Amino acid sequence: MSTKNKMSLSRQDMALKSLFTGYLMVVAIGYMMALVQIQFTHGMADGEMGLSINDIVYSYYGKRSGSVIETKLNGSMKEMVSEQNRLKITNWIHKGANKNDYYDSGIHQIINENCIKCHGPASGMNIPDFTQFDLIVKRAETDTGASFASLARVSHIHLFGIAFIFMFVGLIFSLTTSVPIRLKATVIAMPYVFLVLDISSWWLTKLNPDFAWLTIIGGAAMAFSFCFMWIVSLYEMWFSSYSYREKSNDLLVNKNQVLSKNNECSL
Ligand code: HEC
Repeated sequence: MSTKNKMSLSRQDMALKSLFTGYLMVVAIGYMMALVQIQFTHGMADGEMGLSINDIVYSYYGKRSGSVIETKLNGSMKEMVSEQNRLKITNWIHKGANKNDYYDSGIHQIINENCIKCHGPASGMNIPDFTQFDLIVKRAETDTGASFASLARVSHIHLFGIAFIFMFVGLIFSLTTSVPIRLKATVIAMPYVFLVLDISSWWLTKLNPDFAWLTIIGGAAMAFSFCFMWIVSLYEMWFSSYSYREKSNDLLVNKNQVLSKNNECSL
């Protein structure tokens, strides 16, 4: 038997089904947006579109053969500046990122023309302000990946936010009747287990790049359980009619109620 739950998705009225469907649709769009965002921030870390193990290593462990600016200029900031100016910036970093050279050899001007529109106080974006030399020079040092402060910030947001999303997706899915109970419980628990694994893997990768594959496994398992719950829930709500088994269960319950009422009357 699949479930002891008396409530089932297919038996809900239009109102609750619409609420659940609206929620599932919006959460799915949110999920897709998150994947697009990952492509832009981490996916480009190695300079090529698409998420790879290298992207994860560069993002968390860093590209320790170079600086953050170089990693970014070969990655997500590649299109912001011409090849020639990119080389000039890299040369300046290799020569020791000297403050006088910064102003004398035209780096200041390159940054002003190409970067300040976003990396300036006026853009309102929450990214380093390159009108301050100190903030530039800090990123000319060896790239050690994500800082512990930023990991802590992103970790707690993801733990709270994603746990909340899976609370409701799981709750809706728990009312389905076509999936055997053990499989159902596993699929509901999976995102929580893999969320913790995924986030732990960022910290582990920061310490040791060999852990980067854990990030891929964690993310893939979460996406798999999300899709599974999403498809089964929507299918049962809109396409599977109130099943024969449920109907006969209901009839049985009604019959028992009638019988017990009769007993009360005859007493
Ligand atoms: C169109 C807006 C835009 C322009 C122009 C731009 N950036 Fe960025 N930059 C961003 C955004 C958004 C981020 C954060 C996301 C990311 O890391 O990809 C960022 C992040 C960075 C970082 C990582 C900062 C950190 O420590 O977190 C560096 C380094 C960087 N940019 C360098 C540059 C350089 C150098 C230029 C000019 C050649 C430049 N950017 C031009 C938008 C821009």
